[in-house]
Amino acid sequence: MNVSDAIAARRSIRGFKPEPIAPELLEKIFATASLAPSNCNTQPWHTVVVSGQARVDLQAAIMAEMSAGKAPSPAFIPGDQNLAGVYKERQYECAFGYYGTMGIERHEKDKRFALMMKNFEFFDAPHVAFISMPTTMGPVNAVDIGIYLQTLMLVLVEHGLASCPQGALALYPDEVQKIANIPEGNAIICGLSFGYEDVGARINDVIMDRAPLAETVQFIG
Ligand SMILES: Cc1cc2nc3c(=O)[nH]c(=O)nc-3n(C[C@H](O)[C@H](O)[C@H](O)COP(=O)(O)O)c2cc1C
Repeated sequence: MNVSDAIAARRSIRGFKPEPIAPELLEKIFATASLAPSNCNTQPWHTVVVSGQARVDLQAAIMAEMSAGKAPSPAFIPGDQNLAGVYKERQYECAFGYYGTMGIERHEKDKRFALMMKNFEFFDAPHVAFISMPTTMGPVNAVDIGIYLQTLMLVLVEHGLASCPQGALALYPDEVQKIANIPEGNAIICGLSFGYEDVGARINDVIMDRAPLAETVQFIG
């Protein structure tokens, strides 16, 4: 598989088989992803992969927090905040495509909420990674995290695996800090649920388009 094929094949997958990934393969994938470039080679990413019973405990702990009415407390500004103009429109289209694929209409708030909650069940994936960086760092360092994240997702594709990046997993960090042992001074920027795709699961039919190239790229000269 060449890089362009992997880029084209990667999609956010939200339905997984329960089978875990072999530990040796997991290590190989994360070792390859860590070859991603970063500003001054600072490698600001720190990743904790939570699997097995710890993953089950973490899901229960986050659910308990949410059921108790705890307010979200992300350390970094979530990616869906303060959107306007074309970005707001794209966010709307994204939600429309996602809920539409699942046969959920705009007024069906309960169903939308239930689907949103799948984020905190890690979409049934056997593994969930939490990617954190120091709270003292800002948007330029976050570029490094983004490059790392895409590198990781493409390596997963190369190995026949699938993933879903999740900003939602930065919203309730307290239990994650405890169970996933996030380093002192770091905060979660996003999570990534991953594993083997449950091919045929309706939720995986979601296809997100991209803006026409002329909207996002200009060639001058
Ligand atoms: C940083 C980041 C955070 C995201 N957060 C979520 C999330 O919390 N929940 C979710 O279901 N999808 C999330 N997504 C997936 C996007 O919705 C998805 O990448 C986008 O719609 C394009 O679709 P594609 O990944 O299938 O190409 C996130 C993606 C990125 C890159």
